[in-house]
This record gives sequence, C-alpha cells and structure tokens, in this order.
Amino acid sequence: MRGRPAQGGATDGEILANIVMGQAELHQAYGGVVPEIAARAHVERLDVAMKLALEQADLTLDAVDAVAVAAGPGLIGGVSAGLVFAKAVAAARGAPFFAINHLEAHALSPRLAAEPDGPAAFPFLLLLASGGHCQLIAVLGHGRYKRLGGTIDDSPGEAFDKIGQHLGLPFPGGPHVERAAAAGDPNRFALPRPLSDRPGCDMSFSGLKTALRLEADKLIAAQGGLREQDVADLCASFQLAVCDSLAQKTARAATMFAELSEGRPACLAVAGGVAANQTLRTRLRNVAAEAGLTFAAPPLSICTDNGAMIAWAAMERRAAGGCPDELAAAARARWPLDPDAAPMLGSGKHGAKA
Ligand code: KG4
Ligand code: ZN
Repeated sequence: MRGRPAQGGATDGEILANIVMGQAELHQAYGGVVPEIAARAHVERLDVAMKLALEQADLTLDAVDAVAVAAGPGLIGGVSAGLVFAKAVAAARGAPFFAINHLEAHALSPRLAAEPDGPAAFPFLLLLASGGHCQLIAVLGHGRYKRLGGTIDDSPGEAFDKIGQHLGLPFPGGPHVERAAAAGDPNRFALPRPLSDRPGCDMSFSGLKTALRLEADKLIAAQGGLREQDVADLCASFQLAVCDSLAQKTARAATMFAELSEGRPACLAVAGGVAANQTLRTRLRNVAAEAGLTFAAPPLSICTDNGAMIAWAAMERRAAGGCPDELAAAARARWPLDPDAAPMLGSGKHGAKA
C-alpha cells in the first residue's frame, strides 16, 4: 500500500499489490478449517506471498517503510505464524511495526475503497459479516467503535459454509451457494427468520441452518437424492432468509445509529467475506436509501480476507498519530472492537461463536 488516509472519507490509498494465497483445497475434505493444517499452510506460504507482493509492486524490501500484520482475532496457529514472520521482517528492516486487529481492518476497509457512493467517512454504521463474525457497529472515529448488536450463535459465513457442505458444494460455501441460488426459487422453502420478533439488532443463524438441512434431508428421503434444481431452490431460499435477517436488523441499527451520529451526514457500510454477496449488497443499498444514509461496499477483493486491508488499518492508525512499537504484541484469539459491549451470551451452551 502507498498513500495516506485523507480527512473525511476520501482516500488516496493505492494498492500496489494484494496477494491472497488461499488454502481452501487443504480443508475441503473436512468441510471446515482444520487449525493445525491452517497454521502449517501459513508457515509454508508466507515467504512466497511476500516475494510475490514485492514482485507485483516492483519494489525491494528496502522500499518498505512499515510492516503491518493481523495479530488476531482468529485461529491462534495461523495468527502466530503470520505475527512471527512479520516481526522478523520489521526487525530486519528496522521498520515500524503495526499489530492490527483483523476486525478493525475489515471495519476500516470501506474507507479504502467502496462503491457506489465512494469511501465511507466517519461516522458510519457498519455491518461486518464474515466467516467468523457478525456484528452491527457504529464506527464513530479512529478506534471508536460501539457495538449495537450481533449474532448470538453462528456467523452467516459459517452458516453458508455448513449448508454448502451439506448440499455437496465446494468449500467455502458462500460463493458457491450464491452461484447456485441465481437459478433457484427463493420462495420454494419456508425457512424461519430467527429473532425477527425480538427487539434490538441481535441475530441468529444456527436454527436457520438446521431448518435448511431438514428440508434437504426430507427431499433426499423422498427422492433418494437432490436434483440440481432442488439445490438451486434450497440455496436461493437460504440466501433470502439470511438477507432478510441481516436487512431487518441493519434497518433497526440504522435507527439506533441516527442518535449516535447526531444529524451528521452518515453512511451505511458493509464489510467482511459475506459482504461479497450481491443479493445482500442490493438489499443493504435499499436499507441505506430508506434510512437516508449513503452506501459503501468495498470491491469484492477487499471484502474477503486480504493483506491490503491490514496495511490500510495501519495507515489509518499512523495518520491518526499512533505509531507505537508493537514488536512485543502477542497473538490474540479474541479481540473485541468494543470491549465495553456486554458479552454475547447466546442461547447455546457455549454462547455466541461469532
Ligand atoms: O472475511 P472472510 O474472508 O474471513 C473471515 O474473517 O472469516 O470471510 C469468509 C466467509 C466464508 O464463510 C465465505 O463462505 C463467506 O465469507 N463468503 C460469502 C461469499 N463470499 C465469501 N458468503 C456469501 N456470499 C458470498 N459471495
Ligand atoms: Zn476476515
């Protein structure tokens, strides 16, 4: 990354290279991420990814004037591998080092680049929906986050992945479910909209996932399997239910957010892997229009996990005057954006997972 965050929302951040090295094929057979495999795959890929990024940017390491890395929250093995690698690069280079909260990087990504109304200015309302998280957050300024609601159990990305697995689609399920849904009838299966009559903007996706699975199993029992059209209809019905829930709770959060933004011009932004979903983006654009908010959705390559958003979060911190030496930072499995928010207790025995 090169450039500087500007005042307001516009930026001149320029992405010189954004190398993403997936490892989905290693986890495919297990239907979810296996932590030990993920950690090892990080170790194997980190030096290759850095070399590719420098090549693509046409730079040598000497030109790098700061190093940023995601220090959490996430599966601790992969996070630790990246953290140790980045510390070594920063120490060897003598460059300032930034340990970034992965959620904060998602949260600030609509300020790097977004459509249709351009990058988000503070304050903005954020729906952060990924494979590990789902939260509605008022982003009031640098480091000022107020959580308005979130899931009490699974994240929507996890639900997309699990139902994709159940329907025999490749991992991760999100993009494949979206593709299958395009040819499906979203009204064929009557799926629940969990917590829709509960006030506030908390959400739940675990029961919806189970309801979808039961519909699929009913068909399998009756027909001996699923036809291509059945899979398409199941995916479309599921996607509609997820989008209904997210749109309804985001609209409620917009009402709460109006008080916090105190009449200043404001924006609804969406971030995280699930923000790549086009049906969701269209629904949220309508929610924004009805609430009198502009709408900011990052390009798809900035929605799913990527290095540019980590670099951007560091540049935002530097522009806000923060450049501490963080070489002693530890990897964190949990790292809430709003530490003052009440913990999500959820209804399951282990509480909220996301
Ligand atoms: O932000 P992300 O890359 O990683 C985490 O921080 O979790 O999000 C990954 C999640 C996966 O669950 C994936 O299935 C979901 O984002 N995802 C999508 C789409 N693209 C990725 N979900 C729905 N529709 C999509 N097009
Ligand atoms: Zn993420």
